[in-house]
Amino acid sequence: MAVDSLPATARKITANIGAHYVDKARILPWRSPPGSNLPDPYHVWLSEIMLQQTTVGAVKSYFEKFTRRWPTVQDLARADEADVMAAWAGLGYYARARNLHKCAVDVTEKMNGIFPRKESELLGLPGVGAYTAAAIAAIAFGERAVVVDANIERLVARLFAIDTPLPKGKTEIRAAMDAITPKQGAGDFAQACMDMGATICTSKNPKCDICPVQKQCAAHALGTMEYFPVKPAKRAKPVRRARFFWIEQQDRILLATRPPKGMLGGMRALPDDGWAAGNDGHATPPMAGEWRVHDNIVQHSFTHFSLEVDLAVYQDEKIVTNSDDNIWWALDDIAEAGLPTLYAKAVKWKLKEEI
Ligand code: ADE
Repeated sequence: MAVDSLPATARKITANIGAHYVDKARILPWRSPPGSNLPDPYHVWLSEIMLQQTTVGAVKSYFEKFTRRWPTVQDLARADEADVMAAWAGLGYYARARNLHKCAVDVTEKMNGIFPRKESELLGLPGVGAYTAAAIAAIAFGERAVVVDANIERLVARLFAIDTPLPKGKTEIRAAMDAITPKQGAGDFAQACMDMGATICTSKNPKCDICPVQKQCAAHALGTMEYFPVKPAKRAKPVRRARFFWIEQQDRILLATRPPKGMLGGMRALPDDGWAAGNDGHATPPMAGEWRVHDNIVQHSFTHFSLEVDLAVYQDEKIVTNSDDNIWWALDDIAEAGLPTLYAKAVKWKLKEEI
């Protein structure tokens, strides 16, 4: 869509972000200054692959190392894959390095060392997904492509107060980015938006007082900037139940050693119902006796579930234990037993209950 045909607010947004970039563009080794000649496609491609899931700060020195060592895509294609992998060490997501080399070989051997300029052709190259294809087409070739990375997603969701939760909201966000992307200078515009997302329209504490599109921003008008973009609802954690057994005799309690494999493996703990193996808190006690059950004395949160713990108590002077894995532990020394937090919480609850 030509800028001229955009609604007034969108036109203003495009113009203000563009003007701000002329003044405030970050100087980065793979960039051309705003409005100047387009940068080397090899540099743009290399930087965009490195910037996938990685910060600008981490990428800079790698970009400089790679371009010093392999100044052209043909140089990189001739390199041993192992050398490319070694040079990538520390940047993470190593499949990127393997694809980088593969892509350099493809561009060199099948395309005469010339990167394609169209988003659709770039999209077929190893390691080049939808975002990267759009970014290279716009930044290296000046094609009008709609570029949306996480920074742009946040900026645009706020500008237009798009409240459809992600990932569904991505369609609306892309349409809004399409509406503000100019016909000329789409690469500068995309990088201007990236810079704004990284420096002004940050996730927490956005710096709205220095934002060039504060007046056009729907989220700012609502005063709810940090609400956008709306993240998908976190799935509620499933709740599981466990029962611990408190077996007490002469100011000592019986502790067990947990099986070597599985959760909290090999640690000392109160005997329990085998909750970690999926039991649900209603196992029979390890010995016959007069058990008193206290419901839900402790809640504990693991990564994938929460656990509600009941404590079954049996206090008797005549208990005998015959398991090698069990040990009588003096309650005065319980702090030295090295119990995992979950069990330590239960012990604490029981000792407090007796005061
Ligand atoms: N993140 C991904 N591509 C970028 C670019 N060209 N400039 C700044 N940050 C980026």
